[in-house]
Amino acid sequence: MWVFGYGSLIWKADFPFEQRVAGHVRGYSRRFWQSSTDHRGVPNKPGRVVTLIENPEACVYGVAYKIPDDSAEDVGAHLDVREKEGYRRECIIFYPTPSDDAAESPPIDVVVYIGSSANPNYLGPAPLETMAAQIAFSEGSSGLNAEYLLELAKAMRELAPHQSDDHLYSLEECVLALLDCNKLGCVDTRSAA
Ligand code: BEZ
Repeated sequence: MWVFGYGSLIWKADFPFEQRVAGHVRGYSRRFWQSSTDHRGVPNKPGRVVTLIENPEACVYGVAYKIPDDSAEDVGAHLDVREKEGYRRECIIFYPTPSDDAAESPPIDVVVYIGSSANPNYLGPAPLETMAAQIAFSEGSSGLNAEYLLELAKAMRELAPHQSDDHLYSLEECVLALLDCNKLGCVDTRSAA
């Protein structure tokens, strides 16, 4: 079994894996349009986390993890907990990023968790400043919502430095502007790219 990560799984995989491959899926955009009332927010102050939104023109970069056969059932059950947050498990095709020194790798069938517009935690779009303020000032059991966004932006700059992701990077800029980063101990990694 392969699992595609396009959110926190990119920088924090909490399961065993035997391969980690960078690449993309087609036909979707990554958007902070899903509410988090547990991990990155609380019910009366929800945070915003990512989901995939259908967009035939777009693609989303992330990471595919190969799960060892003897862990597939446990890892599947562990990840299926996300269904409580409104995500549904789907199977899509993942295209590995070719590396300079290797022949092109074939596409891989991956499991992915998608929060569609029909799920109860779907928030949908909002003005950039509204989304940024929600992310900047929310916190849940897994930590600050801002950490989730800033770690994702940092990971994407390393993983797919030549891909523009206006939604992600303009939210990052807006959240950094709202936060007193030194006080929070977060690091502005934009100039390191
Ligand atoms: C992730 O890629 O981190 C992820 C996104 C949505 C649901 C589960 C995992």
